[in-house]
Amino acid sequence: MNIELRGLTKRFGANAVLADVTRTLSFAHTLALIGPSGGGKSTLLRILAGLLTPDAGSVEVDSRPLPTAEEERRRYRAGIGIVFQAYNLFPHLTARENILLPLIQVHRLAPDEADARTAEVLTRFQLSAHADKHPAALSGGQRQRIAIARAVATHPRFLLFDEPTSALDPEMTAEVLDLLAELRAEGRTLILVTHEMGFARHTADLVAFVGQGTLLEVAPPEALFTVPSHPDVRRFLGRILRH
Ligand SMILES: Nc1ncnc2c1ncn2[C@@H]1O[C@H](COP(=O)(O)OP(=O)(O)O)[C@@H](O)[C@H]1O
Ligand SMILES: [Mg+2]
Repeated sequence: MNIELRGLTKRFGANAVLADVTRTLSFAHTLALIGPSGGGKSTLLRILAGLLTPDAGSVEVDSRPLPTAEEERRRYRAGIGIVFQAYNLFPHLTARENILLPLIQVHRLAPDEADARTAEVLTRFQLSAHADKHPAALSGGQRQRIAIARAVATHPRFLLFDEPTSALDPEMTAEVLDLLAELRAEGRTLILVTHEMGFARHTADLVAFVGQGTLLEVAPPEALFTVPSHPDVRRFLGRILRH
């Protein structure tokens, strides 16, 4: 995948979260966005998802500009799978309904096709036994599996994850990270915001460090984690990898 950022700018009031960022992000399967809290990782991910519009500049994904008109943006968003940190399931729907209803209501699939895709991902993600449970009756790891299954069921061009494991305990974190590694091994394109540096190091093809209104460093993980060139990246990694 190839992402071209040109003069990308996003402000919230006086806070320029992304300030005139021009960069090419070119990677085979997986891009990891890392960096300090409040640095702009989610903002960049939300722009790539078509959920936020930049104040200035442009973004191209595989040579296609991100659409700006609302109707086109809606279609673009529907072509992408998005999984957030937590709580992105409808609490009043069962696991099955959480997957099925968006396929019918957002993706406008015929009920038969939506049923077939739902059954397929419930099996694929080992959720069949939980299909009729509500999110409250499931573990955090199972809930994230449903959120991932729901995203995969839409046959997205690529998948975006915003800290998909940060609300999970270590065992469930490992389970969800295993699943992400499987998706990557299937040849899917993933872009994820993560604090799991081990995972970023072993699974990402490219790592971008987001901070101070820009991408401070963009490099393959071996380089970024072993010989970071930007002093702030070095300091950040030194702090978080100490323990
Ligand atoms: N909708 C919003 N309104 C106002 N400020 C926002 C909004 N979203 C994010 N911000 C601010 O933008 C900065 C970057 O946020 P974010 O992209 O969420 O960072 P990260 O994901 O790296 O922690 C933070 O200072 C945050 O408070
Ligand atoms: Mg964030």
